[in-house]
Amino acid sequence: MLTIASSNPLIMKAEGDPIMTKPTILVTGGAGYIGSHAALALQQSGYNVIILDNLTEGHPELVKEVLQVELIVGDTNDRLLLDQLFSNHDIAAVMHFAAYIAVGESVTNPSRYYRNNVVGTLTLLEAMIAANVNKFVFSSTCAIYGMPQEIPMTENHPQDPLSPYAASKAMVEQILRDFDRAYNLKSVAFRYFNASGADPKGRLGEDHHPETHLIPLALLTALKHRKSLSIFGTDYDTPDGTAVRDYIHVNDLASAHVLGLEYLLKGGDSNVFNLGNGNGFSVREVIETAKKVTDIDFPVQESDRRVGDPPILVGSSEKAQTTLGWKSQYSDLETIINHAWLWHQKRHGNSNK
Ligand SMILES: NC(=O)c1ccc[n+]([C@@H]2O[C@H](COP(=O)([O-])OP(=O)(O)OC[C@H]3O[C@@H](n4cnc5c(N)ncnc54)[C@H](O)[C@@H]3O)[C@@H](O)[C@H]2O)c1
Repeated sequence: MLTIASSNPLIMKAEGDPIMTKPTILVTGGAGYIGSHAALALQQSGYNVIILDNLTEGHPELVKEVLQVELIVGDTNDRLLLDQLFSNHDIAAVMHFAAYIAVGESVTNPSRYYRNNVVGTLTLLEAMIAANVNKFVFSSTCAIYGMPQEIPMTENHPQDPLSPYAASKAMVEQILRDFDRAYNLKSVAFRYFNASGADPKGRLGEDHHPETHLIPLALLTALKHRKSLSIFGTDYDTPDGTAVRDYIHVNDLASAHVLGLEYLLKGGDSNVFNLGNGNGFSVREVIETAKKVTDIDFPVQESDRRVGDPPILVGSSEKAQTTLGWKSQYSDLETIINHAWLWHQKRHGNSNK
């Protein structure tokens, strides 16, 4: 087990008196995009955070410089490491972000996805059961629904995962239902729509390799890291012919995770929640807003539709609002892109200036 950064900040009251820290939460994949924002939100709510990340995608420098929490470099498939981790730390709950996330790659290399996303999660859950840790917050996806039959999509929408990536998430949700019945493992599965944006102060943000998400691709094109941005499909039955998606700010995802955790810590039953902002934005709207925010008229290319891309994906998050008291704070597209732009310029520099 390699620990490369460690400092457990003592939480201070405003007047400076030390107060008791809240429980310790293990965040898998906490060196990645959404996990790092959730780790920051947990810290800001007073929790002690430990991150487990194998760094296939994660950014250890952000854990060290921004989060300043313990980072254990290791894999969820490593049962020995997990047993040591649970016996050396008093962990109250696990937030599980660690997964491979590229839908296209999952089609050509499903084995990699089922091993990491399903077997890795199963190994983690078995280690939790053995260590008597029974609270689990899981990153699921709206992709488990497949082609939308109704908009907005609710948690009761029929499930028809169209890729091994989506199927891997649906399989874990099934495992969670069975583990609750058999082992009393209580879980919250959040089905995210399109995660977007960045820490409003620009300290953390999205940096996937390869990048496949629209907003970072637009901003990387504005920064001249890419020659042009492709629009896949301009003949959909949508107001401007391009696909419409529900973009949810990563800080809103993070705040939902803290609420989901607290729901479980208070004895809540296993549950699933959509997390979207309830508004759909078209690809052209995203591009126009990115051009406005960056003040750069970057090149855009129109291409054919991609197989399996639905015209519209918009979710209802009413259940998370009523059950958890969650509310999205950053639901407008310009704010989302502004925050992402701050991060991208800081991360990559801006040669346009
Ligand atoms: N980004 C989105 O729009 C989106 C949408 C729906 C669901 N999700 C889910 O949210 C989670 C986080 O996504 P993200 O965008 O932050 O991805 P990310 O790639 O930035 O973060 C995932 C992190 O997990 C780590 N990791 C992967 N496999 C691991 C393993 N076996 N052991 C330890 N660490 C491992 C990676 O190094 C990375 O740091 C994923 O589970 C993803 O499926 C993301």
